[in-house]
Amino acid sequence: MPSLHKLPLPLWLLLLTLPCIGQAAKVDLPASEWGLEQGDNCVSCHQKASNSLHQQWQQSTHAAAGVNCFDCHQADKDDTDAHEHEGEVIATIVSPKDCGRCHTKEAEEAKNSIHSQALALMVERTGATEEALESAGCTSCHGGRVEAAIDGTVSSGNWPNAGIGRINPDGSRGSCSACHGRHLFSKAQARDPAACSSCHSGSESPDSEIYQQSRHGVLLQSQREAMNFGSDSWITGKDYSATATCVTCHMGEAPGLNPTHDVGMRDAWSLNGPVSEKQSLVIFANGSRRDLPLSHPSPRKGEALAMIGGEEATIQAIASPNLRRKAMRKVCLECHSSSFADRFFHQFDQQIEAYNQRFGIPGKAIMDDLYRQNRLTPTPFDEPLEKIWWQIWHDLGVSMRHGAAMSSLSHTFSDGLHAIEKRFYGAFLPEVRAVAGDEGESLIERHLQSGSSPTLPTYGMVPAATSTIDSNNE
Ligand code: HEC
Ligand code: HEC
Ligand code: HEC
Ligand code: HEC
Ligand code: HEC
Ligand code: HEC
Ligand code: HEC
Ligand code: HEC
Repeated sequence: MPSLHKLPLPLWLLLLTLPCIGQAAKVDLPASEWGLEQGDNCVSCHQKASNSLHQQWQQSTHAAAGVNCFDCHQADKDDTDAHEHEGEVIATIVSPKDCGRCHTKEAEEAKNSIHSQALALMVERTGATEEALESAGCTSCHGGRVEAAIDGTVSSGNWPNAGIGRINPDGSRGSCSACHGRHLFSKAQARDPAACSSCHSGSESPDSEIYQQSRHGVLLQSQREAMNFGSDSWITGKDYSATATCVTCHMGEAPGLNPTHDVGMRDAWSLNGPVSEKQSLVIFANGSRRDLPLSHPSPRKGEALAMIGGEEATIQAIASPNLRRKAMRKVCLECHSSSFADRFFHQFDQQIEAYNQRFGIPGKAIMDDLYRQNRLTPTPFDEPLEKIWWQIWHDLGVSMRHGAAMSSLSHTFSDGLHAIEKRFYGAFLPEVRAVAGDEGESLIERHLQSGSSPTLPTYGMVPAATSTIDSNNE
């Protein structure tokens, strides 16, 4: 793969590294450091006190390797969540930092991923406080701030919470057991799309529903055994080939492509705002990362830029959307031809552009003007137009765009573009006219490109000869 070596070193290291030759040590802590004796008491009492929990642990790779309760739950007496329990100092929460004592690579990748930033990003994107987001239930998936009580227990307030960007009492971010259910902590379980579905379903991010409708998801239903989920190594095209799962495309290993716990790395677009933009990945010298839309003035290596949360840091490298796409495309090539993959991405990009041009950009510009003209109050969601617009770009628009990314035809077309079109022309524009009065028509004309009028089939409602389809689709 000579072309890879022309890329700046840190980038191909991060995205496209050649897999290590030979078997690297899986765990960074030497085996003499675990299997602590104090753990025997925990095991024997909890066998009676919480037998099923004990059994899950007993069946785990951890138990087989001699990693016991105390190896994970031990705490320093100065930790904010340390408390005494049956003669030992323990913490209930085993944070990514604790797992990272043994699993440095996975913990580092997870720490710098969009997942572990999910709370901070939500605050940044909505301008709401953590408390407000907490009471609205948003932190159940995005993660909340978990604090220990004075006595070190966490059995109050924000806990339980296994949100993906949870802030732990030790300051670390994220939750490993969001995907690796405790106390089995298995990788087989995490490779199954079901591991992602508790958060990636519903109007926020309907990827589970989309996946189920896609050819890949349909095939999983009949080919589950062929997926070899329990295999030690899980390389596309080597350990399995029947179909692709969420993990195959977003995290998994393929020849020439390293596995990663940084789930957002291979995403060239941001598909969740009113308007979609291609995005670069900025990698800071301290390891932290952030997405940067292409409309942002392009910073250079060595310059300072605000990280998520606002603090500035020095840029070490920038991965362009093309490089991110290249990593994703590599996965497809194990099962599809390169022209198939290229045609697919071309169609996908065009569908996102079509959404942007026809609905995202004009809709946002009209809303911005209405706010500027004080025809809408600054309070969000107190007027019908705001709710209609939200439904268009968020509920339907996110679903349509994610559908196009992962090829669910119904999400992209019948329940996507066509449903958006119906709301846009049937509810949004009429409400704009009602809100803007005499100015309504000129406001709409200013922002709506000619040629972006309805393209739905007429279903016999309009005589075909006079239908707008003919005039617009030439
Ligand atoms: C003599 C029995 C006994 C021993 C020894 C023991 N535990 Fe427990 N542990 C319990 C019981 C009982 C509970 C409470 C269960 C409940 O609330 O239903 C508990 C609760 C816990 C909790 C949950 C605390 C919370 O905040 O909810 C953790 C974590 C825990 N034990 C870990 C350990 C570890 C680690 C050890 C070894 C250092 C250990 N236990 C030793 C009996 C024991
Ligand atoms: C590989 C690390 C690891 C090992 C080994 C481990 N735990 Fe845990 N344990 C965790 C994590 C992670 C949590 C989740 C805490 C959270 O984030 O809310 C947890 C939570 C708990 C809880 C409270 C949550 C609940 O579901 O009730 C108890 C009790 C507990 N562990 C007991 C034990 C006992 C007993 C053992 C040994 C038989 C053990 N743990 C072994 C990592 C571990
Ligand atoms: C004291 C060291 C230690 C700690 C702490 C620890 N692990 Fe492990 N972990 C191991 C060892 C050892 C293995 C077995 C490696 C092997 O396959 O040889 C393992 C294996 C795993 C695996 C692979 C399981 C499989 O199906 O093969 C996962 C996933 C995992 N750990 C997650 C975690 C998580 C999450 C935490 C924190 C809650 C954690 N570990 C904490 C030592 C540790
Ligand atoms: C059922 C789980 C779930 C709940 C509850 C939830 N979200 Fe989300 N949210 C997600 C997922 C998953 C994504 C990722 C979509 C993506 O990146 O494509 C997301 C994405 C977002 C984004 C876009 C972030 C970006 O990077 O573009 C924002 C903003 C957001 N959510 C805010 C909220 C707010 C505010 C609430 C509460 C009113 C909320 N979410 C409740 C799961 C959830
Ligand atoms: C978004 C879901 C998700 C989260 C969160 C997550 N993991 Fe994983 N993890 C996976 C998947 C999927 C695999 C299997 C990857 C593969 O083999 O392709 C895996 C594999 C692993 C392995 C086995 C690696 C090997 O080569 O055998 C370890 C160890 C591990 N994870 C540790 C962690 C730790 C520590 C955390 C928290 C810092 C964590 N994981 C958080 C999904 C997740
Ligand atoms: C506990 C909830 C939760 C689980 C489980 C979860 N995610 Fe996420 N995921 C989120 C949230 C919340 C976001 C949005 C983060 C943001 O943009 O602020 C997200 C974002 C993402 C993104 C988008 C990153 C981007 O570029 O915008 C991808 C891809 C993703 N997750 C894949 C997965 C996969 C694959 C799994 C399962 C192996 C998984 N997630 C499991 C909550 C979760
Ligand atoms: C066949 C490969 C494939 C499978 C399987 C797959 N995805 Fe995706 N996913 C993609 C591609 C390609 C994109 C768009 C990437 C881009 O932005 O260029 C995407 C986009 C996303 C996004 C939006 C990220 C953004 O840029 O806003 C999320 C979230 C996501 N996927 C989660 C999941 C989850 C969860 C599953 C399983 C239920 C899954 N994906 C299954 C390939 C896949
Ligand atoms: C592990 C193998 C595997 C991987 C990896 C994979 N696919 Fe597929 N894909 C399949 C199979 C098998 C089918 C079903 C073909 C059929 O319908 O007979 C399929 C079908 C499709 C279809 C439906 C089109 C059609 O002809 O029916 C699209 C689109 C698609 N894949 C895109 C992608 C993209 C994009 C990627 C990479 C991001 C990808 N696939 C990765 C195995 C895979």
